[in-house]
Amino acid sequence: MERQRGVTLRFLAEPGDVNFGGKVNGGAVMKWMDQAGYTCAAGWTGSYCVTVYVGGLHFLGPIHVGEVVEIKSLVIRTGRTSLDIAVDVYAGDPKSTERRRTGYCVIVFVALDTDGRPSPVPKWIPGDELDRALEGYAGRLAELRKQMDGEMERSLGHK
Ligand SMILES: CC(C)(COP(=O)(O)OP(=O)(O)OC[C@H]1O[C@@H](n2cnc3c(N)ncnc32)[C@H](O)[C@@H]1OP(=O)(O)O)[C@@H](O)C(=O)NCCC(=O)NCCS
Repeated sequence: MERQRGVTLRFLAEPGDVNFGGKVNGGAVMKWMDQAGYTCAAGWTGSYCVTVYVGGLHFLGPIHVGEVVEIKSLVIRTGRTSLDIAVDVYAGDPKSTERRRTGYCVIVFVALDTDGRPSPVPKWIPGDELDRALEGYAGRLAELRKQMDGEMERSLGHK
């Protein structure tokens, strides 16, 4: 079976998605990111997956009601039972083909077996220079995450 490395979700931003300032709220965008990431992770692994970490989350600009939103998700690293998905958000006027990037993050998912235990994921092998750069980025984020976890444990006494 050929595995699909990337998934794009595409839909319109609706009035129910906006905050009091009239722009799409960050919580809605985070939900879409998680949904796109999950679709990608479940498609790659063929398993139910759960979110365990979100890193490098940036909101670059607002999204307006009525704009078409595209959430692109891509496998950029696989571990033993986890995988990292890069998620990029684009938006624009549906009457034009122009899109602007409005946010991005990397989400770590863990594949679970039917008993809810972490289960091995199919390996993804970088195919070119860009893939290797993305995999390196995911690795560096993981290092930063461990440093931050250590710092929080020292400073706040919990993880
Ligand atoms: C997923 C879960 C069962 C894994 O349990 P666990 O005891 O952490 O399992 P392990 O220690 O064997 O870790 C499994 C993998 O997850 C990775 N992982 C676990 N927590 C992580 C975190 N916070 N960040 C990044 N990776 C993490 C580990 O590195 C390991 O990866 P690998 O197998 O590729 O090396 C458990 O963390 C869990 O239930 N988390 C809550 C998930 C959830 O409810 N999400 C929100 C709704 S979807």
